[in-house]
Amino acid sequence: MNYLRNAWYVAAAAAEVVREPFRRIILEEPIVLYRLESGEPAALFDRCPHRFAPLSRGRQIGDDLQCIYHGLRFDKAGVCVLNPHGSKSIPQTARVKSYPLYEKYGYVWIWPGDPARADPSLIPEFDFLEDKKSFRTVSGYLTIDANYQLVVDNLLDLSHVEFLHPMFARKEGVDSHRTEFSQEGNAIYSRRLKSNSSLNDFARLFWTSPSEKGDGRANMRWTPPSLLYFDLGVTEVGAPVAEGVCTPAAHLLTPETPYRTHYFWSQGRNRKLDDEKLDEILHNSVHRVFTYEDKPIIEAQQEEMGEQTDLIAMRPVLLEPDIPGIRARRVLGQLIDEEEQASATPRKSA
Ligand code: FES
Ligand SMILES: [Fe+2]
Repeated sequence: MNYLRNAWYVAAAAAEVVREPFRRIILEEPIVLYRLESGEPAALFDRCPHRFAPLSRGRQIGDDLQCIYHGLRFDKAGVCVLNPHGSKSIPQTARVKSYPLYEKYGYVWIWPGDPARADPSLIPEFDFLEDKKSFRTVSGYLTIDANYQLVVDNLLDLSHVEFLHPMFARKEGVDSHRTEFSQEGNAIYSRRLKSNSSLNDFARLFWTSPSEKGDGRANMRWTPPSLLYFDLGVTEVGAPVAEGVCTPAAHLLTPETPYRTHYFWSQGRNRKLDDEKLDEILHNSVHRVFTYEDKPIIEAQQEEMGEQTDLIAMRPVLLEPDIPGIRARRVLGQLIDEEEQASATPRKSA
């Protein structure tokens, strides 16, 4: 399957990447992730070029990785630095691909494309993840056995909330929302506004006012390849957004294969910052919604689609809330096409 390669994806939560190497499949490539003695994260193609043993089964010698099978050693750039056999000469081909990484927002980001283009300033903003004074955050991870675009569709079309997620539904139903879609550059926005509306059970976790109604918003931003920022919140009716409950979230999707998606999520809140009990409630609530409500239906969709990964190619009925998802697919498709054309065009010599 074709993926956008010159882009940042989340490889792992920062806490997952430790000295001991571990393997994760990203865009169908096996990758070994580990940390150097300095704490800097490193990533190599997880296949020894000798007999193809996974390097993640090996051990660390200082900052080098030693293959468990016959002991070739590789540095963080993927260059073989030791051959313990025979003349000990190192074949030129004894090297593996290394990947640019960048640690930000509590995640280790990976750039699977041209290393020269790996600019960390291209990671979209998820500022609440760094603003520890105003926000407290819980995080989680799951996998979904479906193409990542189906998960993007799910997040860009929040009309499903009223039907699939009782905790987030409001008694006014799906009709009560004002929806707006827009595109700014390569970013797609889907905004759902609910003025003077009843509170859902999720908002009640943070709501301390006696009012039974508020102005709610559920605004999603998608940026390529599959990174979503969710500005979710509720204020007193007519009050400025800044005074209200803000529960922003990051939904960061990384394709493992055409049929499996890594789903990293972080859920923030600007209320009850010292309430550890609420951390647990919040984590369990979000985990439950994703794992037992979204995941099964998205996986069932993929099952119905069989080997097909492109839902649009199967000519589905389209409804108004599908607009942002369709636009996101279009933007991503164009970027992938451009990338492929550029790599097919031979570079002009100077
Ligand atoms: S397979 Fe790695 S050294 Fe032989
Ligand atoms: Fe959902």
